[in-house]
Amino acid sequence: MRDSNGKIEQEVTPLWDSLIGQSERVSFHMPGHRQGRSWPLHVKKQLAALDTTELSGTGDLAMPSGRVLDAYERAASCFGAGKTWFITAGTTSSVMIMLASSLREGDALLLPRAVHIAVVHAVALLGLKPIFVEAEDGHSFEDGQPDASSYVFSIRRHKEAKACFVTYPDYYGRTIDLDSVSRAAQKAGMLLLVDEAHGAHFAFLPDQKPATALSLGADMVCQSAHKTLPALTPASLLHVSEAAIQHRRIDLQRVASMVHVFQTSSPSFLIAATIDRARAELESCGKEGLERLQRLNVSFSEKLPSGFYRVLPECADPSRLVLDFAETGFSREILAHHLDKSGIDVEMIDISRIVLIPALDQPEEDYMRLLESLLSLSEIEDEGNRQSLTQARRDLLNTRDRLLSAPAAFQVTPREALFGRDACSVIAPYPPGLTVLWPGEHVLEEHRSFFQALHDMGITVRGIHY
Ligand SMILES: Cc1ncc(COP(=O)(O)O)c(C=O)c1O
Repeated sequence: MRDSNGKIEQEVTPLWDSLIGQSERVSFHMPGHRQGRSWPLHVKKQLAALDTTELSGTGDLAMPSGRVLDAYERAASCFGAGKTWFITAGTTSSVMIMLASSLREGDALLLPRAVHIAVVHAVALLGLKPIFVEAEDGHSFEDGQPDASSYVFSIRRHKEAKACFVTYPDYYGRTIDLDSVSRAAQKAGMLLLVDEAHGAHFAFLPDQKPATALSLGADMVCQSAHKTLPALTPASLLHVSEAAIQHRRIDLQRVASMVHVFQTSSPSFLIAATIDRARAELESCGKEGLERLQRLNVSFSEKLPSGFYRVLPECADPSRLVLDFAETGFSREILAHHLDKSGIDVEMIDISRIVLIPALDQPEEDYMRLLESLLSLSEIEDEGNRQSLTQARRDLLNTRDRLLSAPAAFQVTPREALFGRDACSVIAPYPPGLTVLWPGEHVLEEHRSFFQALHDMGITVRGIHY
């Protein structure tokens, strides 16, 4: 590229430079290896050398044998699966493989409206028929995530569905009584498919609380290893339960062929090797690491400045840190700007909460830097209109829950809408990527004003062009 004087610019690398600067900051977001800081020096030094392709000494990630198979079998045993694959294109691909392996074109799938964008794309691409989970009394779900009794009610009501899809845990670490959903699904002859993208560490949690989706009866499960384990982005695990294999609910041949369809023909050994390493590390000291993390989360939360409080409902993952700031009087923009200026990267700030994903080895000093940053907020003058700000937020939260839990309103199928002549997209605030509108549904005035309010707060809405 030429500069303004017509000279060729030498070795200008904006993306590379921006990433280099990143390593100085405090990271409370994925990936779980904290820009390599979680790994010993010898591992970091080896990373580039491990970036290889299928060789006689390495095997083939899509056709596991030898050492690849050994690594997959160790992972399956550790995570409680009958069969496991390492997918190096994220849980986005694992979800696609999971749905393509277990369902056929035209099959009905019971799921919430507010699933991750990846699920909507998979449903559309595979030509599945979505049926949204509904509450018996019509109540809306917080963040669009249905409670177990609404799943059970919908399973009984929609016996035509071939499978039930659950996000467990959600982005905020909340879980539901998956055991009762699993029993209802089994009774109705439905498969239970689980997006456990945020729960790859569940197998190592002290006292097994919350329990893993596999231990609660899921037939297939996808996990993002890079979100909560020290693995490279976008490392993912795809599991099939032992029971699903034994009772022939899932055909392993079909899973293997769908891995070929949806995974690149050059899967990354480097990424896969970090899954293997993370599994071994957590097997040896994951429980202690998670206990330490949970202690740090508790002691940090006890020192929070007034107005902030930790959101940790019953059965939520205690290793996740979710802070509610709705009562502080500070706007989302002020908070985001202040944290950024303090050199702190959080996973996400939504309308009223900050989501932090502490890594297994998150240093205590990072918590102190975060606390100092929150304490120093009080020096900023933004408390003028605390009452009205809080009311405006409350209204917006109610709208959010209502829109994320709304009944389906398809004009055409998601496949026709997404890939047809007037291609339209999924509309979802990002992060967390929870779908508000599926392709094939109309944008109403209420949606428009909701998206505008999010945009004004600095929240990106995917699928909308401003
Ligand atoms: C609930 C959920 N499912 C699936 C995904 C996609 O995972 P990946 O980024 O590993 O492709 C995400 C990503 O944020 C997610 O939050």
